[in-house]
Amino acid sequence: MEAIDDTPASPSDGDTIGDVIARRYNRRDFVKGALGVTAATALFGPAALAAPKTACVAESEPGAFTPPSFAFDEIEAGADDNHHVAEGYDALVLLSWGDHLGKPKEDAPFEPLKQSGSEQRERFGYNNDYIAYFPIDGSSEHGLLCVNHEYAEATHMFPGVETLKDDKNRDSVDDDMVDVEMAALGVSVVEIKKLDGKWTVVYGSPLNRRITANEPMALDGPVANDEKALKRLRTKDDPDGRNLRGTVANCAGGKTPWGTYLAAEENFHYLFWTEKKDANGDPHIEGDHSDYPANYRRYQVPKRGTPWGRKYPRFNVDEEPNEPNRFGWIVEIDPYDKHSKPVKHTALGRFFHEGAETVLSKKNKAVVFTGDDAKSEYVYRFVSDGTYVDDASKKAENMKLLSAGTLSVARFNDDGTGEWVALTPQNCGGDRQSGDGWFCSQADILIDARLAADQVEATKMDRPEDVQPNEKTGRVYVMLTNNVERNASTVNRANPRANNRFGHVIEIIPDDADFGANRFTWDILVRCGDPDRVELGAYWNAATSKNSWFVSPDNATVDCQGRLWIATDQGRYWQQTMHADGLYALETHGIRRGTPRMFFRVPVGAELCGPCFTPDGETLFVAVQHPGADGMKGYCDGRTDSKFDCSKEASFDNPATRWPDFQENMPPRPSVVAITRTGGGKIGG
Ligand code: FEO
Ligand code: CA
Ligand code: CA
Repeated sequence: MEAIDDTPASPSDGDTIGDVIARRYNRRDFVKGALGVTAATALFGPAALAAPKTACVAESEPGAFTPPSFAFDEIEAGADDNHHVAEGYDALVLLSWGDHLGKPKEDAPFEPLKQSGSEQRERFGYNNDYIAYFPIDGSSEHGLLCVNHEYAEATHMFPGVETLKDDKNRDSVDDDMVDVEMAALGVSVVEIKKLDGKWTVVYGSPLNRRITANEPMALDGPVANDEKALKRLRTKDDPDGRNLRGTVANCAGGKTPWGTYLAAEENFHYLFWTEKKDANGDPHIEGDHSDYPANYRRYQVPKRGTPWGRKYPRFNVDEEPNEPNRFGWIVEIDPYDKHSKPVKHTALGRFFHEGAETVLSKKNKAVVFTGDDAKSEYVYRFVSDGTYVDDASKKAENMKLLSAGTLSVARFNDDGTGEWVALTPQNCGGDRQSGDGWFCSQADILIDARLAADQVEATKMDRPEDVQPNEKTGRVYVMLTNNVERNASTVNRANPRANNRFGHVIEIIPDDADFGANRFTWDILVRCGDPDRVELGAYWNAATSKNSWFVSPDNATVDCQGRLWIATDQGRYWQQTMHADGLYALETHGIRRGTPRMFFRVPVGAELCGPCFTPDGETLFVAVQHPGADGMKGYCDGRTDSKFDCSKEASFDNPATRWPDFQENMPPRPSVVAITRTGGGKIGG
């Protein structure tokens, strides 16, 4: 038996005997039975086994549960080159863009001047966003990390790319770079393990996998089963319409109760190219899509954000007008099966999905909450027709739950009530067909979910990002990041501020604490911004400190004690707060309701994505996206001591991390950071 001298905390510090047992024995061995139940019972008594590590907090009926308060000292707000975590915690970079997943770093160093598509396909992708942890053998110290890679940033990835704002410079992204970009997006699946208290990557694991913009994908749901609608997805490469390739713009996501990963496709429009010119003879870059059909117009396709379509006709809408209909879906991936084919689930609708958080209704239906992240778009919910079976041997059946169900859109009434309005032909105006020919069947409604939602007078929201259910409390939190186009004539109770620069968080309380209920009540939990600037109309608990108010809520998660954590993304507007983005703990109950506390801060110019806890609540993974990118002018002006390259002219569109200094003076890369409590224990106290 191993000595327990290094056990950092005693039961009197709040640990259960289960915690102590788990530390005294290798947890995996314990779970697998190397220390048999009989032996463990003899040693520690039945109470030890009745307090499993992952129970985390006493269970009670949703609606009756009150999460405990946080217990950590907030960090200072500010902005500098480094990340910062609350005192008593360790934050270590686990994975970075370019890390080879098949070989250790010393055998396969990242050589940014020698990038290729085939090399990038073997390496961790760019701009990590959503993170989900999938235990191996139930362990919180050994599992698979699934990570989304949202978008490529050529100005940061390659030498000689100045800006993507005009065609001349966009052309500087050559065909080889296009291949790197396509391989750098999608999803990484990576086996990780905690060894001697430190998280490490299992390089070369047979489970490690990269899914890119070229990965074969299946299509299912109403669109796949409707021959007429399927015509809208057929291309030269895929005359059937159900053999898709690639997932892109993977922003936030979700994890299902049956152990699969959901990657949400968000801003797919910027990947589509056209040679068409507008009335002024300028290329269609942004804004005016008035001469396109409603299907394109409503999704701002094509955006010409990357030159992929120059090399690959499928991303050029002049050549392949149906390809955009093959993106904007929720993609289900089985991380435990490297050879499984990802599935695009059309039943969850097509729009700029920010995420896809999945819980169960009281009738054990799968319920997926998903926001459409664009100004004045909607909040959606999917409820499966089928019922979840809590049996690992039924995984294949459970993986069909997202294939059929009801997609609804939220209506927030001014009296604090609300309802989920189903997007069906009946609710959306029968089988009426518009001039653009979009509106004829359930399948068409799903392809053009935005157009269908317009028909049922859903509430246009201030950029819905994560929609985060809390299984412990039965409540749901909607992150609304900002909407500068909101004006005095379009404000409503749920989006009450004109020129909403800083966003807000709405709390939804479903009737009967049932995520499947069609009615709910709602309230605004916080209106973001500096509470000392009265003109902003921010609303926080009076206990809120100068360090901890935040703006632009984006991703959110709930820890195993039922507490809410919110990550922010201000973009270049961080210069209006001079607070770099970060992760905040936000109280939702009791007299501290509406009080935030800053836990982690990213390097300047980054956003914080993907907060994800292990089941025991003792590790928090976060994704630091695009450090040194957003709004570096205010930071760099006059500064000579930065590890970012401030010697170049920095502006909003002209980031400071620049080649050729990149190689010698490697700026921090987009990275996943693992945060643990020094000496062990739950994150956040
Ligand atoms: Fe990709 Fe809505 O953030
Ligand atoms: Ca996001
Ligand atoms: Ca989330």
